[in-house]
Amino acid sequence: MDLVPKMKCDRIWNHARLLTMINPSSVENGLIACRDGRIIYAGSASEAPAFDAPDIINCEGRWITPGLIDCHTHMVYAGNRAEEFEQRLAGVSYEAIARGGGGIISTMTATRAASDAELTAASLPRLDALMSEGVTTVEIKSGYGLSLDAEMKMLRVARGLADKRAVEITTTFLGAHAVPPEYFGCADDYIELVCSVMIPEIANAGLADSVDGFCEHIGFTPEQIERVFAAAKNYGLQVKLHAEQLSNSHGAALAARYKALSADHLEYLDDSGISAMAEAGTVAVVLPGAYYFTRETQPPPITKLRAKGIPMAIATDCNPGTSPLTSILLAMNMAATLFRMTIDECLAGVTRCAAQALGMQNKIGSLAVGKYCDLSIWNIERPAELVYQMGHNPLHARIWKGL
Ligand code: NIG
Ligand code: FE
Repeated sequence: MDLVPKMKCDRIWNHARLLTMINPSSVENGLIACRDGRIIYAGSASEAPAFDAPDIINCEGRWITPGLIDCHTHMVYAGNRAEEFEQRLAGVSYEAIARGGGGIISTMTATRAASDAELTAASLPRLDALMSEGVTTVEIKSGYGLSLDAEMKMLRVARGLADKRAVEITTTFLGAHAVPPEYFGCADDYIELVCSVMIPEIANAGLADSVDGFCEHIGFTPEQIERVFAAAKNYGLQVKLHAEQLSNSHGAALAARYKALSADHLEYLDDSGISAMAEAGTVAVVLPGAYYFTRETQPPPITKLRAKGIPMAIATDCNPGTSPLTSILLAMNMAATLFRMTIDECLAGVTRCAAQALGMQNKIGSLAVGKYCDLSIWNIERPAELVYQMGHNPLHARIWKGL
């Protein structure tokens, strides 16, 4: 009989190297124990209590990171914009296409026409691609419906993906993405619909965790976005914003004023926006796939964000127009090569900081006791390989909530 009673758990992973994302982050000869889908131990094997585990997985020296998080996607949509891509290759700008009724509106037309089943079928391969690289949590925005019914359909489909795959889905209502054709010339009336009809209905149906907007000269003004934020707050929804992507509209400062979870893109962010974000604790989400695909030349002010200690998350922005990207690993590589983010920043950007961008830092984003046992197990010798390689997927296994 054992003198010390063993701690009961469902599963342990041993002979692993851990990247806990808590300082100090690296643990050689690490062990993780899981019970009821949560981590009950993550750390050095030699300091671990004795476990009674029916299931022991020998990781043979592989690295384990927290399950990766893609905290900004528009991956539920129908159709594609390959034709628009061809136009852009011929020299037409993204903004010119958008102003000509292409862009977001062309995806809106295809998305409105798709049934729930068609939209689900179109989205699953994108979700599968993300999951194949160790992603365990995905944020999905609406914003290609732009009517109550079509926005609700997108959110319903997004939520429904969680019944089809072992992954956490969080949804964001992005009604303020573009003015739909019915409201051309009367953007304020559309914003009124977003605030007084869409947000209440969507909040009451429990279809969204947060509300986003596109603050831009080809999107909505700060005044219009402020109305959307006020309505969202009224219904207890968190806010976030596409800010300073193509120009400086002072969206980040507005987002910070509403205690936004994140401000995203940020290529044209200025010093006052940075200070406002630092003060509010708003996460900077950088989207190097969109920067790359639109051939933007001004990178977000990484050095200043770093100096202010603003958490920086990295996401794919998976969308048909500006970032048809379904690889979180490539997004990390681009953040390093194009934005000069460090390896540590890139790793935190898709784990700890991404969790914070979703307001989920108590549940996911690090290998800490009490968090979901979401793990990505990698065939690599050192964590930098996750950022360094392009087009190679070293995932060995992916665990979501302990399974
Ligand atoms: O994150 N900026 C606005 N929204 C998307 C692009 C959407 C589209 O072109 O379909 C973005 O870049
Ligand atoms: Fe986006």
